[in-house]
Amino acid sequence: QRLELELDSIEKGGYEHFMLKEIFEQPRSILDSMRGRLELESGHLNMAGFRAYEQKFVNAHRIIIVACGTSWHAGLVAEYLIEDLARIPVEVEYASEFRYRNPVISERDIVIAISQSGETADTLAALELAKSKGATIFGICNVVGSSIARATDAGAYTHAGPEIGVASTKAFTAQVTVLALLAMCIGQRRGTLSDTKLRELMVELHSIPTKVEKALKLDAEIQRISETFKDVPNFLYLGRGYNFPVALEGALKLKEISYIHAEGYPAAEMKHGPIALIDENMPVVVIATRDSSYEKVVSNIQEVKARKGRIIAVVTEGDTTIPAMAEFVVEVPYTSEVLVPLVSVIPLQLLSYHIAVMRGCNVDQPRNLAKSVTVE
Ligand code: G6P
Repeated sequence: QRLELELDSIEKGGYEHFMLKEIFEQPRSILDSMRGRLELESGHLNMAGFRAYEQKFVNAHRIIIVACGTSWHAGLVAEYLIEDLARIPVEVEYASEFRYRNPVISERDIVIAISQSGETADTLAALELAKSKGATIFGICNVVGSSIARATDAGAYTHAGPEIGVASTKAFTAQVTVLALLAMCIGQRRGTLSDTKLRELMVELHSIPTKVEKALKLDAEIQRISETFKDVPNFLYLGRGYNFPVALEGALKLKEISYIHAEGYPAAEMKHGPIALIDENMPVVVIATRDSSYEKVVSNIQEVKARKGRIIAVVTEGDTTIPAMAEFVVEVPYTSEVLVPLVSVIPLQLLSYHIAVMRGCNVDQPRNLAKSVTVE
């Protein structure tokens, strides 16, 4: 019994839960996911899986991303990245819907399947369907040699290391890292990304692990915020642009492990529904980092405030406008807009973790959920 307990604690590296350990591993897992692929000195991007299918990517009419859960959220970030940097139209599909929809697919399409486990039944079936219609299949998996990895034409592994906590954390940031590299490779090859811009992004991506490390220092502050909100029944998460998928991911994390009902929404879409729910009892997490939609997000915060919603804002370091409006503010380091999810998701992972612990939930193995869903 004692030995078992000790082994358990060694595996968790001194952390109370795998989830917390994995959240704190992110500076390392992000670095591992770009190691050997991003060479700052020489200015080279090396992605073997991309190189093998370079021409297909250059000529692709369309990229379709299929995934489930958190991996689907990484896919949404990729939609912004690829359209922005490489100018290829992207569609992001829930694998379970795609596979039963008689989708229109041709040989000019590339399907990217994203899966941490590489075993999700719906994602595997979706890519088999696309393959049978002649599309090129590119996989982004964490587990080496997994079913999805084996079924693809080419791909790139995330090097996040084993993820034990059912709620995905480091796999998400590793996926976004690899997808950012992929978008940069395609953009460079298609000539839609200037050398200067590419260089800037490479430098920025290289600095992400340090920025994530800094964001993790928010832990104690987030614990205090969690204390305030641990007993609420609902949460709303809002973000725009690259932070919209982050809002979805923040809400999913909270739902999964604390069993609090949470919804993520594009901030501007709030007025078409969720605004009706806002009153003095509704906590609203707004991801409001310095980017092209900042001013718009500030107006959205005002709309929430006018209805007495309780605002928890994730802002960029040094922001002076939002602290005057929000009840709680957490500051993350500045990074380029296209990479911001890698940093802005960190406080949301911590928030869900601490709230779940305070509610006495089984953080690493939430009820009714499985780490990998190998049945439909
Ligand atoms: C399950 C897990 C989620 C995960 C999803 C997709 O629902 O609980 O954390 O995001 O499956 O898994 P995959 O392994 O395909 O990324």
